[in-house]
Amino acid sequence: MNNAIEASARALRDRGPAPAIAVLLGSGWGLFGDAVEDAFEVRYDELPAFPRLAVGGHSGRLRCGRVGATPVVVLGGRKHAYETGEADAMKGAIRTLAAWGVRVLVQTNAAGSLDAGVRPGELMLISDHINLAQRSPLFGEPGDDRFVDMNDAYDAALRARARAVAARLATPLHEGVYAWYMGPQFETPAEIRMFRLLGAAAVGMSTVPETILARHAGLRVLALSLLTNMGAGMEAQPLSHAHTLASAGVAGARAVALLSALVQELEP
Ligand code: HPA
Repeated sequence: MNNAIEASARALRDRGPAPAIAVLLGSGWGLFGDAVEDAFEVRYDELPAFPRLAVGGHSGRLRCGRVGATPVVVLGGRKHAYETGEADAMKGAIRTLAAWGVRVLVQTNAAGSLDAGVRPGELMLISDHINLAQRSPLFGEPGDDRFVDMNDAYDAALRARARAVAARLATPLHEGVYAWYMGPQFETPAEIRMFRLLGAAAVGMSTVPETILARHAGLRVLALSLLTNMGAGMEAQPLSHAHTLASAGVAGARAVALLSALVQELEP
């Protein structure tokens, strides 16, 4: 383990014991931080292994407390691969969580829908992913454990619990394959047609590197997409980051209610 990760894990350990569950918030999910009670906060820039954030809409803070009775740590945003071209921007953060003692990573994101029947504002559980960017956060990693088994990358038992919680809340929850597109430009309509042919149900610019890192570190992963728009060319609407944030804001409350109920039932 490198020094920055050790120092970051030590700084967190000094503040308290690790919760079993970490929640990584993407665009549109920021309100979830308010559901965490009795919390202490640590800025990413106080943790040497954590990234410095640039994209608007992310807090860049780690918030550690309880949702209901369940201890949880919430990461207010990620650094994206499109910022530098490197897929390992979250390597130090994910490894710090694992070194601290976290065992489950719940990821959230905003994504474009590739399924004509799944509309903006709806939620999707990620069942699997396609790494279209063909980048890995494990490039250059030594050792045989870099050959990570990606079967069941999105934990089947955790997904079953998520479906049960959504059913109880009567919140429609789709399930499908997420395609990681490097960005930062949005996809072309031709690319979107290709991704639909490949069987992807949603497309976005995040999540996959963190899933790979988490599986490499031995964490179980659950991931939820808030669909903020239809894929390019599927509708007349032009795409923009401002539109993603605006439409995530509208649907955010329902997403946050589902996530709050969910984390209380994930205790491993
Ligand atoms: N494409 C890529 N990333 C996204 C999209 C999209 O349509 N919507 C939200 N994030």
